[in-house]
Amino acid sequence: MKQVLIILALAIFFAIAVDASIFSIFKKYKNGCDPDPCKHKAKCLLDTKNNTQYTCNCTDGYHGKNCELKTGCYSNPCKKGKCMNLKSNPSDFVCTCEKGIVGKKCDTDNPCLKKNPCKNGGQCVVDDKLKAECTCPLGWTGSKTCEKRFCNITSFSSKLFAKGSAKVYIDKEIEKRMVDIEGLAKLCHVKLLVLKSFTLHPDPVKGNEFDARDKTNPGFYTGQAIQFQIYNSEDKLECNDICLAKIPIPNAGAKCFVDGLHAIKWKWSILDPTVFSTGHHVANLTAYNQIRTSHQVGCKDTKF
Ligand SMILES: *[C@@H]1O[C@H](CO)[C@@H](O)[C@H](O)[C@H]1NC(C)=O
Ligand SMILES: *[C@@H]1O[C@H](CO)[C@@H](O)[C@H](O)[C@H]1NC(C)=O
Ligand SMILES: *[C@@H]1O[C@H](CO)[C@@H](O)[C@H](O)[C@H]1NC(C)=O
Ligand SMILES: *[C@@H]1O[C@H](CO)[C@@H](O)[C@H](O)[C@H]1NC(C)=O
Repeated sequence: MKQVLIILALAIFFAIAVDASIFSIFKKYKNGCDPDPCKHKAKCLLDTKNNTQYTCNCTDGYHGKNCELKTGCYSNPCKKGKCMNLKSNPSDFVCTCEKGIVGKKCDTDNPCLKKNPCKNGGQCVVDDKLKAECTCPLGWTGSKTCEKRFCNITSFSSKLFAKGSAKVYIDKEIEKRMVDIEGLAKLCHVKLLVLKSFTLHPDPVKGNEFDARDKTNPGFYTGQAIQFQIYNSEDKLECNDICLAKIPIPNAGAKCFVDGLHAIKWKWSILDPTVFSTGHHVANLTAYNQIRTSHQVGCKDTKF
């Protein structure tokens, strides 16, 4: 009985061993497509150079090494548009909508076409939340409908200006920087008589109002410059254009002011010693008119 058991055990052992070797022989002849690793009816294609390698030619709607993953377009997510799987991530999709349709899934009527809310030549664009939004033309504002006039020029008054000064108009952008000018004038014990601030135009689109000096001047200032003379604290003239043009400037207060401009990052014009600016000037008349128009176009109806 014992012997029988031993023989039986040996038989089983050999059977397993032989079976394993048969199995390994089979394994040798297996290739990348056997057993077929490709899912969802994909065609398995062997690599011609190495038959352990394969690619699966997926059927529509699947991707992945073994076509095991559903593509973004699998469920036809685009309601009124064409679906394309994202190259970077085929599980995601992008829809190209039919005309008049918007939304990730092309399921929303374009609100700009349904009822364009933009007034005054505003361009209607659809925002992230699929709501109509207006991009306003120059001179207009109001994100909803471009209903408000928008002017980039503001009037500016200050104790630093001497009696008899012209009304000062400046670009809103430089309003904060005028504080430095006030400080400098105070430091130098001077006031400014403003002759011109180069900014306000009754009709900036049509207007072309140059004085003789500007025409010969290669630098045209656009809302960030002020033409001035130096007055003292009693509103008396201290240094006019002739005085300001002298090198060095003979008046202590004027010299102090002009020297200080650089320190507060304003520029004193090389071309015209009666002008200081933020350096915001352009090379020619066309460019000047463009900038002037864009800055002042909304100002026509503004009451200063
Ligand atoms: C075939 O590819 C496998 C897996 O990359 C690699 O181990 C094997 O060496 C390759 N055989 C030949 C003949 O290049
Ligand atoms: C993959 O399948 C498509 C049709 O489903 C066929 O047009 C294409 O030629 C196949 N690619 C290869 C490499 O066999
Ligand atoms: C005027 O200046 C602008 C840039 O400031 C330039 O593009 C344009 O060519 C200039 N025009 C002339 C006539 O020089
Ligand atoms: C007008 O001012 C606004 C806000 O200060 C600014 O965003 C805009 O660029 C300015 N427009 C022009 C034409 O400078």
